[in-house]
Amino acid sequence: MLLILTLIFASIGYVLFNYHKTRQKLLKIKSHFDGPESHYFWGTMPMFVGKSIPDIFDMVTGLHNIHGEDIVILAAFNELVLDLSSSKNVEKVLLAKSIRKSFAYDFMEPWLGTGLLISTGEKWFRRRKIITPTFHFKVLENFLDVFNKEADILVTKLERHAGKGEFDIYDYVTLYALDSICETSMGVQVHAQDDPNNEYAVAVKQMSTFILRRVFSVLRSFPSLFFLYPYAKEQKQVIMKLHNFTNSVIDSRRKLLEQEKSTSKVIFDLDEENMYSKRKMTFLDLLLNVTVDGKPLSREDIREEVDTFMFEGHDTTTSGISFTLWHLAKYQDVQQKLYEEINRVLGKDKTNAKLTNVEIQELEYLDMVVKESLRLIPPVPIIGRTLLEDMEMNGTTIPAGTTISIKIYNIHRNPKIWPDPERFDPERFSKTNESKRGPYDYIPFSAGPRNCIGQRYAMMELKVTLIKLLAKYNVLPGESMHKMRFKTDLVIRPDDGIPIKLALREP
Ligand code: HEM
Repeated sequence: MLLILTLIFASIGYVLFNYHKTRQKLLKIKSHFDGPESHYFWGTMPMFVGKSIPDIFDMVTGLHNIHGEDIVILAAFNELVLDLSSSKNVEKVLLAKSIRKSFAYDFMEPWLGTGLLISTGEKWFRRRKIITPTFHFKVLENFLDVFNKEADILVTKLERHAGKGEFDIYDYVTLYALDSICETSMGVQVHAQDDPNNEYAVAVKQMSTFILRRVFSVLRSFPSLFFLYPYAKEQKQVIMKLHNFTNSVIDSRRKLLEQEKSTSKVIFDLDEENMYSKRKMTFLDLLLNVTVDGKPLSREDIREEVDTFMFEGHDTTTSGISFTLWHLAKYQDVQQKLYEEINRVLGKDKTNAKLTNVEIQELEYLDMVVKESLRLIPPVPIIGRTLLEDMEMNGTTIPAGTTISIKIYNIHRNPKIWPDPERFDPERFSKTNESKRGPYDYIPFSAGPRNCIGQRYAMMELKVTLIKLLAKYNVLPGESMHKMRFKTDLVIRPDDGIPIKLALREP
């Protein structure tokens, strides 16, 4: 008995001794940075107790106002986290080879598999090479038809709010972006704008909520305990629905393409006329046509990429469009200047017609407005990495295994680069002002090899939507607009909608 007790005490002593040694090492690393106080065992966890999700967002982003550009956080049980916003260290991490995405991305894996966003190493490299041509500007031009059509529907749907009280624009834009991504990535029209209760649209929204809840859960560090979550079973069913839908679209589309190939002509099944865009190439078609070492991609390979587009390609643009409208509602002078540019370049009637890429490119002020909005509210405000090898930073060695948060939200508010950072000022993106900044001072689409593959797609979609909406409506602030707060999983969202008002413009 005495021997057992001795062994137990010796083991506890050994664990505590090692814990203490590790803590001393981490404190030494911390001395090269600044950072918040950390409890011996619970780390910075006490800071978050009893706080709401928007409070946590404010605290996490506010840390840089207190502790500077790069911060060391000693989280619970000696977990080392680095919060970076200085261009020199951000560049190092974004260009590093031995690195993987951090834990929060794992929560998306049951749905997205190891698609482009999550995969690493050789798999990522090969896929990126295959998928890059699908974002060729010629392919994107094809998608303009979809954005034009869906944006016209959005404009019509919003008519019911013209001249009335405040309402939440975010949900309308979500449905619009979902319709657009379904059609461009899969060639399927889910008509989410007409039927917000569409099964697929609802499932996508549910998955986003599950991911958000998990990021903020206390159990998040223990993936094997996921079954304890009250919504674990529900998530499984939702993912099954999402996968079944994508699989069925892939199978139908593959069959259609094979029929086309064998008869050397395009076949249209009349029953599917409404479901599939006919001659328009979609991401899915391009993936179905790809071969690697002479073999086509498997259904699972294709599904994870299409699902990744579905996720990355609609929540992000929804956030970009909605928060730009929020800024325009707040800054009426900017909106007026933009409206005048739209009228001058496109003419009043043109905005009702199909916008072309050439026309969109001519709107320089629009470009500046969108960029400034993506600066202040970057749709992906924080990205995460885990170091797989040691890395030198601030004159010390950051060990492999460290979690790195790249705070895009804070990079874009660095007062050394952006004087009076909270002020919304599109002139920051005039050609002269833009040329004064470095490549890592403004990274809404990230930078380096893992940057956003969809950025041109996104800019195009944002611009078409804004032109169409502003041509018809004056966007006004809602009374409760100042109450708007943020929450974020991978994408930044309003905690409780974006309240705006609309007034019809003179015809
Ligand atoms: C305003 C809209 C968008 C913003 C701000 C945005 C931002 C980003 C950022 C910051 C990343 C890097 C993520 C990380 O490192 O973890 C990323 C990656 C990615 N984005 Fe976007 N994105 C947008 C729209 C889109 C669209 C429309 C698509 C597809 C249609 C898309 C597809 C992707 C993919 C596939 C990746 C992973 C790329 C890789 O790792 O190779 N994004 N995006």
